[in-house]
Amino acid sequence: MTITIKNSDEQQAMRTAGRLTADVLDMIGEYVVAGTTTDELDQICHDYIVDVQAATPAPLNYRGFPKSICTSVNHVVCHGIPSDKRLRNGDMINIDITVIKDGFHGDSSRIFHVGKANPRAARVAEVAREAMWLGIEQVKPGARLGDIGHVIQQHVERHSFSVVREYCGHGIGRVFHEDPQVLHYGTPGTGTEIVEGMAFTIEPMVNAGRRHVRLLKDGWTVVTRDHSLSAQWEHTLLVTPDGFEVLTLGAEERQ
Ligand code: MF3
Ligand code: CO
Ligand code: CO
Repeated sequence: MTITIKNSDEQQAMRTAGRLTADVLDMIGEYVVAGTTTDELDQICHDYIVDVQAATPAPLNYRGFPKSICTSVNHVVCHGIPSDKRLRNGDMINIDITVIKDGFHGDSSRIFHVGKANPRAARVAEVAREAMWLGIEQVKPGARLGDIGHVIQQHVERHSFSVVREYCGHGIGRVFHEDPQVLHYGTPGTGTEIVEGMAFTIEPMVNAGRRHVRLLKDGWTVVTRDHSLSAQWEHTLLVTPDGFEVLTLGAEERQ
Protein backbone atom coordinates (compact mmCIF):
# COMPACT_ATOMS: atom_id res chain seq x y z
CA MET A 1 0.00 0.00 0.00
CA THR A 2 1.48 3.31 -1.06
CA ILE A 3 -0.19 6.59 -0.30
CA THR A 4 1.32 9.44 -2.28
CA ILE A 5 1.87 12.75 -0.51
CA LYS A 6 1.54 15.68 -2.89
CA ASN A 7 4.22 18.39 -2.81
CA SER A 8 3.25 22.00 -3.41
CA ASP A 9 3.62 21.82 -7.21
CA GLU A 10 1.52 18.67 -7.27
CA GLN A 11 -1.06 20.30 -5.01
CA GLN A 12 -1.30 23.19 -7.45
CA ALA A 13 -1.85 20.77 -10.33
CA MET A 14 -4.55 19.01 -8.30
CA ARG A 15 -6.27 22.37 -7.73
CA THR A 16 -6.34 22.97 -11.46
CA ALA A 17 -7.74 19.52 -12.24
CA GLY A 18 -10.30 19.88 -9.46
CA ARG A 19 -11.51 23.23 -10.73
CA LEU A 20 -11.92 21.94 -14.26
CA THR A 21 -13.94 19.00 -12.93
CA ALA A 22 -16.26 21.35 -11.05
CA ASP A 23 -16.57 23.56 -14.13
CA VAL A 24 -17.87 20.60 -16.17
CA LEU A 25 -20.56 19.90 -13.56
CA ASP A 26 -21.49 23.61 -13.46
CA MET A 27 -21.69 23.63 -17.26
CA ILE A 28 -23.83 20.49 -17.71
CA GLY A 29 -26.61 21.41 -15.26
CA GLU A 30 -28.73 23.32 -17.73
CA TYR A 31 -28.75 20.37 -20.15
CA VAL A 32 -30.22 17.96 -17.60
CA VAL A 33 -33.84 18.21 -18.77
CA ALA A 34 -36.62 15.79 -19.71
CA GLY A 35 -36.18 14.35 -23.20
CA THR A 36 -32.38 14.54 -23.25
CA THR A 37 -30.45 11.29 -23.55
CA THR A 38 -27.50 10.49 -21.32
CA ASP A 39 -25.48 9.99 -24.53
CA GLU A 40 -26.12 13.65 -25.32
CA LEU A 41 -24.86 14.66 -21.86
CA ASP A 42 -21.78 12.49 -22.44
CA GLN A 43 -21.09 14.14 -25.79
CA ILE A 44 -21.46 17.66 -24.40
CA CYS A 45 -19.13 16.90 -21.48
CA HIS A 46 -16.61 15.16 -23.72
CA ASP A 47 -16.43 18.08 -26.12
CA TYR A 48 -16.19 20.63 -23.31
CA ILE A 49 -13.37 18.76 -21.58
CA VAL A 50 -11.41 18.15 -24.78
CA ASP A 51 -12.08 21.33 -26.77
CA VAL A 52 -12.61 24.02 -24.13
CA GLN A 53 -10.49 22.71 -21.25
CA ALA A 54 -7.78 21.01 -23.33
CA ALA A 55 -8.03 18.18 -20.84
CA THR A 56 -8.85 14.47 -20.91
CA PRO A 57 -12.00 12.68 -19.69
CA ALA A 58 -10.49 9.95 -17.50
CA PRO A 59 -13.32 7.39 -17.76
CA LEU A 60 -13.03 7.01 -21.55
CA ASN A 61 -11.38 3.62 -22.12
CA TYR A 62 -10.53 3.33 -18.42
CA ARG A 63 -10.46 -0.45 -17.92
CA GLY A 64 -12.69 -0.63 -20.97
CA PHE A 65 -15.32 1.90 -19.88
CA PRO A 66 -16.85 3.08 -23.18
CA LYS A 67 -17.86 6.69 -22.40
CA SER A 68 -16.42 9.93 -20.99
CA ILE A 69 -18.72 10.32 -17.97
CA CYS A 70 -20.83 8.12 -15.71
CA THR A 71 -24.59 8.73 -15.60
CA SER A 72 -26.44 6.86 -12.86
CA VAL A 73 -30.21 7.27 -12.95
CA ASN A 74 -32.64 6.43 -10.09
CA HIS A 75 -31.85 2.89 -8.84
CA VAL A 76 -28.44 2.89 -10.52
CA VAL A 77 -25.88 3.21 -7.72
CA CYS A 78 -22.81 4.15 -9.78
CA HIS A 79 -20.91 3.65 -13.06
CA GLY A 80 -24.01 3.99 -15.23
CA ILE A 81 -23.06 4.03 -18.91
CA PRO A 82 -24.52 6.87 -21.01
CA SER A 83 -27.02 5.56 -23.55
CA ASP A 84 -29.82 6.59 -25.88
CA LYS A 85 -32.34 6.39 -23.05
CA ARG A 86 -34.17 9.67 -22.46
CA LEU A 87 -34.44 11.39 -19.10
CA ARG A 88 -37.96 11.82 -17.77
CA ASN A 89 -39.55 14.34 -15.45
CA GLY A 90 -38.85 13.28 -11.82
CA ASP A 91 -35.74 11.21 -12.64
CA MET A 92 -32.74 11.64 -10.37
CA ILE A 93 -29.34 11.42 -12.08
CA ASN A 94 -25.82 11.36 -10.71
CA ILE A 95 -23.27 12.73 -13.15
CA ASP A 96 -19.71 11.70 -12.29
CA ILE A 97 -16.90 13.63 -13.95
CA THR A 98 -13.19 12.85 -13.83
CA VAL A 99 -10.83 15.17 -15.67
CA ILE A 100 -7.09 14.74 -16.23
CA LYS A 101 -5.10 17.95 -16.66
CA ASP A 102 -1.29 18.06 -16.81
CA GLY A 103 -1.21 14.49 -15.55
CA PHE A 104 -3.40 15.00 -12.47
CA HIS A 105 -6.97 13.91 -11.82
CA GLY A 106 -10.00 15.71 -10.40
CA ASP A 107 -13.07 13.60 -9.57
CA SER A 108 -16.50 14.85 -8.52
CA SER A 109 -20.14 13.97 -8.90
CA ARG A 110 -23.47 15.58 -8.16
CA ILE A 111 -27.13 14.67 -8.20
CA PHE A 112 -29.47 16.51 -10.55
CA HIS A 113 -33.25 16.20 -10.52
CA VAL A 114 -34.99 16.26 -13.89
CA GLY A 115 -37.90 18.71 -13.92
CA LYS A 116 -39.95 18.47 -10.75
CA ALA A 117 -37.99 16.44 -8.17
CA ASN A 118 -39.48 13.20 -6.88
CA PRO A 119 -39.80 13.91 -3.10
CA ARG A 120 -38.37 10.53 -2.08
CA ALA A 121 -35.41 11.05 -4.43
CA ALA A 122 -34.89 14.56 -3.11
CA ARG A 123 -34.74 13.21 0.43
CA VAL A 124 -32.18 10.48 -0.24
CA ALA A 125 -30.11 12.90 -2.31
CA GLU A 126 -30.16 15.43 0.52
CA VAL A 127 -29.09 12.90 3.13
CA ALA A 128 -26.29 11.63 0.87
CA ARG A 129 -25.02 15.18 0.39
CA GLU A 130 -25.13 15.92 4.10
CA ALA A 131 -23.31 12.65 4.78
CA MET A 132 -20.55 13.56 2.33
CA TRP A 133 -20.07 16.94 4.01
CA LEU A 134 -20.02 15.44 7.49
CA GLY A 135 -17.30 13.10 6.24
CA ILE A 136 -15.33 15.96 4.69
CA GLU A 137 -15.46 17.90 7.95
CA GLN A 138 -13.61 15.07 9.73
CA VAL A 139 -10.55 15.54 7.54
CA LYS A 140 -7.44 16.89 9.26
CA PRO A 141 -3.95 15.61 10.03
CA GLY A 142 -4.07 13.12 12.88
CA ALA A 143 -7.68 12.04 12.27
CA ARG A 144 -8.26 8.54 10.89
CA LEU A 145 -10.16 7.29 7.89
CA GLY A 146 -12.55 5.42 10.18
CA ASP A 147 -13.69 8.79 11.55
CA ILE A 148 -14.95 9.70 8.08
CA GLY A 149 -16.76 6.41 7.51
CA HIS A 150 -18.32 6.52 10.93
CA VAL A 151 -20.04 9.91 10.61
CA ILE A 152 -21.28 9.08 7.13
CA GLN A 153 -22.77 5.77 8.24
CA GLN A 154 -24.32 7.31 11.37
CA HIS A 155 -26.03 10.07 9.44
CA VAL A 156 -27.36 7.79 6.72
CA GLU A 157 -28.64 5.11 9.08
CA ARG A 158 -30.25 7.67 11.37
CA HIS A 159 -32.46 8.50 8.40
CA SER A 160 -33.20 4.78 7.81
CA PHE A 161 -31.24 4.73 4.57
CA SER A 162 -28.24 2.47 3.90
CA VAL A 163 -24.61 2.86 2.85
CA VAL A 164 -23.26 0.82 -0.07
CA ARG A 165 -20.20 -1.17 1.06
CA GLU A 166 -18.75 -2.47 -2.20
CA TYR A 167 -17.49 0.87 -3.54
CA CYS A 168 -15.53 3.55 -1.73
CA GLY A 169 -13.64 6.80 -1.99
CA HIS A 170 -9.99 6.64 -3.03
CA GLY A 171 -6.65 8.34 -3.11
CA ILE A 172 -6.18 10.35 -6.30
CA GLY A 173 -3.37 12.14 -8.09
CA ARG A 174 -1.43 11.04 -11.14
CA VAL A 175 -3.41 7.83 -10.74
CA PHE A 176 -7.24 7.80 -10.94
CA HIS A 177 -7.74 5.29 -8.11
CA GLU A 178 -4.83 5.01 -5.71
CA ASP A 179 -4.44 4.20 -2.02
CA PRO A 180 -5.97 4.68 0.43
CA GLN A 181 -9.48 3.25 0.16
CA VAL A 182 -11.90 5.61 1.90
CA LEU A 183 -14.78 3.55 3.27
CA HIS A 184 -18.14 5.21 3.88
CA TYR A 185 -18.79 3.18 7.03
CA GLY A 186 -16.56 2.38 9.98
CA THR A 187 -15.40 2.93 13.50
CA PRO A 188 -13.93 6.17 14.88
CA GLY A 189 -10.23 6.11 15.73
CA THR A 190 -9.51 3.21 13.38
CA GLY A 191 -7.91 2.98 9.96
CA THR A 192 -5.15 4.91 8.25
CA GLU A 193 -4.03 8.16 9.85
CA ILE A 194 -4.68 11.23 7.73
CA VAL A 195 -1.53 13.20 6.84
CA GLU A 196 -0.98 16.65 5.31
CA GLY A 197 -0.56 16.44 1.52
CA MET A 198 -2.80 13.42 0.99
CA ALA A 199 -5.49 13.81 -1.67
CA PHE A 200 -8.55 11.59 -1.77
CA THR A 201 -12.22 11.50 -2.63
CA ILE A 202 -15.25 11.06 -0.40
CA GLU A 203 -18.20 9.73 -2.41
CA PRO A 204 -20.89 7.97 -0.38
CA MET A 205 -23.54 5.95 -2.20
CA VAL A 206 -26.77 5.98 -0.21
CA ASN A 207 -29.67 3.64 -0.91
CA ALA A 208 -33.24 4.46 0.04
CA GLY A 209 -33.77 0.74 0.73
CA ARG A 210 -31.33 -2.04 1.55
CA ARG A 211 -27.60 -1.64 0.99
CA HIS A 212 -27.10 -4.60 -1.35
CA VAL A 213 -26.12 -4.06 -4.95
CA ARG A 214 -25.94 -6.04 -8.18
CA LEU A 215 -23.64 -5.61 -11.17
CA LEU A 216 -25.42 -5.72 -14.53
CA LYS A 217 -24.16 -7.91 -17.39
CA ASP A 218 -22.55 -4.90 -19.09
CA GLY A 219 -19.84 -5.27 -16.42
CA TRP A 220 -20.20 -1.66 -15.18
CA THR A 221 -23.70 -0.62 -14.16
CA VAL A 222 -24.26 -1.14 -10.43
CA VAL A 223 -27.90 -1.20 -9.29
CA THR A 224 -29.67 -1.64 -5.96
CA ARG A 225 -30.75 -5.25 -5.51
CA ASP A 226 -34.15 -4.17 -4.24
CA HIS A 227 -34.51 -1.52 -6.97
CA SER A 228 -34.69 1.26 -4.39
CA LEU A 229 -33.40 4.71 -5.32
CA SER A 230 -29.70 5.42 -4.77
CA ALA A 231 -27.93 8.78 -4.48
CA GLN A 232 -24.26 9.78 -4.56
CA TRP A 233 -22.17 12.94 -4.28
CA GLU A 234 -18.41 13.16 -4.60
CA HIS A 235 -15.68 15.68 -3.91
CA THR A 236 -11.90 15.50 -4.23
CA LEU A 237 -10.02 16.98 -1.31
CA LEU A 238 -6.56 17.81 -0.16
CA VAL A 239 -5.35 17.51 3.42
CA THR A 240 -3.95 20.85 4.65
CA PRO A 241 -1.90 21.59 7.82
CA ASP A 242 -5.05 22.24 9.83
CA GLY A 243 -7.84 20.51 7.92
CA PHE A 244 -8.98 20.12 4.35
CA GLU A 245 -9.34 21.98 1.07
CA VAL A 246 -12.13 20.82 -1.24
CA LEU A 247 -10.66 20.95 -4.76
CA THR A 248 -13.90 20.40 -6.68
CA LEU A 249 -16.21 23.07 -5.26
CA GLY A 250 -18.74 24.36 -7.78
CA ALA A 251 -19.38 28.05 -8.36
CA GLU A 252 -22.26 28.06 -5.86
CA GLU A 253 -20.20 26.31 -3.18
CA ARG A 254 -17.35 28.81 -3.64
CA GLN A 255 -19.56 31.77 -2.66
N1 MF3 B 1 -15.54 8.43 -11.16
C1 MF3 B 1 -15.72 7.16 -10.52
C2 MF3 B 1 -15.18 7.32 -9.12
O1 MF3 B 1 -15.65 8.17 -8.47
C3 MF3 B 1 -15.06 6.04 -11.22
C4 MF3 B 1 -15.59 5.79 -12.56
S1 MF3 B 1 -14.71 4.53 -13.29
C5 MF3 B 1 -15.38 4.46 -14.81
O2 MF3 B 1 -14.26 6.72 -8.67
F1 MF3 B 1 -14.63 3.72 -15.52
F2 MF3 B 1 -16.62 4.02 -14.70
F3 MF3 B 1 -15.42 5.67 -15.31
CO1 CO C 1 -14.01 8.76 -7.26
CO1 CO D 1 -16.12 9.91 -9.56
